[in-house]
Amino acid sequence: MPKSNWYIAFEAHGKGPKKENIFSTRDNHWHARYRGLVEQGFSMEQLLHREEAIDALLLDLLAKLDASCAPADGKAAASHTPSPSLIDQLHYFVFDVGGILAFSRPYGFVKGQSDLEGIIRLSRKLSTHLTRLAQAPVFQYLLDKNPLVRFFGLVPPPVTFARRYLPLTRISHQIDDPRSQDEKPKPNEDLLDSWIEAHLKHPDVVTRNEIIDLALMLISPTPDAVYVHPLSLSHSLTLSPDLLTRTMLPTSRTTLGVLIYYLFKSPNALSKLRAELDSSLPNTTIPPYTLLSNPTHLPYLTACILESLRIHPPPGFMIERVVPPGGAVVDGQYMPPGTLVSVSPWVIHHNEEIFGVEPDVFRPERWVEAEPEQRKKMEGMLCAFGFGGRVCLGKDVALLELYKVVAVLVKEYEMTLADVEKDMTITWGNMVCVDMEVRIATRRRESTMPT
Ligand code: HEM
Repeated sequence: MPKSNWYIAFEAHGKGPKKENIFSTRDNHWHARYRGLVEQGFSMEQLLHREEAIDALLLDLLAKLDASCAPADGKAAASHTPSPSLIDQLHYFVFDVGGILAFSRPYGFVKGQSDLEGIIRLSRKLSTHLTRLAQAPVFQYLLDKNPLVRFFGLVPPPVTFARRYLPLTRISHQIDDPRSQDEKPKPNEDLLDSWIEAHLKHPDVVTRNEIIDLALMLISPTPDAVYVHPLSLSHSLTLSPDLLTRTMLPTSRTTLGVLIYYLFKSPNALSKLRAELDSSLPNTTIPPYTLLSNPTHLPYLTACILESLRIHPPPGFMIERVVPPGGAVVDGQYMPPGTLVSVSPWVIHHNEEIFGVEPDVFRPERWVEAEPEQRKKMEGMLCAFGFGGRVCLGKDVALLELYKVVAVLVKEYEMTLADVEKDMTITWGNMVCVDMEVRIATRRRESTMPT
């Protein structure tokens, strides 16, 4: 079924023509062709080529966390608050992984220990803003799509960030001189390479504009479109930012935050997870993803990740579709054409019939104890990443980040909530973000940090 008009709010409406993107489009035909051409770069096989660079970034993150850590003795640890907060650090990491995947280099959030050009703050603000606009489309014409608002620049485009941090020379060079593609050995391909390859094969689907769009999708949180000339690319392309950073990237960081929070609240689960990690990964700071994600090695880690995606799925919206011409039968009931149907992961994931007793309780054991048939059913109904042909394109990226970061944080650090009585702060946007104040202290170890 095609997506509904709810998704219009997530389109770029710049000075150029209206611009749908892979997330927002209601045209399933265009979507299938487009996705078929660009999804290859997101495959696990391709991601694993970048694993070494991601591990190096994770080591940088650990070095920063170490530097801001409290000493391991309880008293001193209790009075020490790292800065920036652990949750912000996770956000920096997730954004930098986006840079590594797209352009083979991190943007520098972790290194600089700051929110570059305020793009993360902006992406969170816009997440809430766009969700409101999606619910009340009339406001789109008063706000984001209002020519006056755009004329006066009230919706800030990500030009400053893009100018400073996108490898613009490389992008324009590769677009204008596709032969430079041949010079690169295949395993070193990054996402930009694969998008350009898709453009060369099917320039009608993955247009030059789409390459810029995809490049921006990993960073750009604005609904407005900007022209290419401020970014000094050689042709007059319209930069119409895809909205996936604001809709998608904060999601991994949300899941990380949620899992950490629930581990604090469930000391039993935390100690089981730690015991599993300590016994299975005794000699390594950052284990390879293939080892981490193999359920036979680390079944409890997998269970914890699935449970946090279940209990607090990042999508804060109903996954909405329109019944096509001819109607459809949904759960035994006929729906006429044009009917809006939707599912909310927040409702499905709390269904006792599927996920077992006490669905409001964080209990990773439910995944470990389930019979194979039941486990299959639970995994099939877990819709944190959506379903079918529109399932999350970044699912493997997210899982790689989750496995790596959770394993490393739990193994290497003692973490406590600054205020155990305080609930995490939840912000409902199209992504349900969380915040909390966490204190950390190193647990380990022979130093494995870079000098
Ligand atoms: C825990 C992390 C993540 C969660 C829970 C998540 C969730 C989702 C969901 C629910 C959808 C489908 C929305 C719908 O049908 O309306 C989606 C789509 C998408 N996500 Fe993610 N996402 C995550 C991480 C990522 C990352 C890291 C990226 C990019 C690297 C990404 C890129 C995308 C794209 C491109 C789509 C649109 C796919 C299409 O329509 O073909 N996501 N995501």
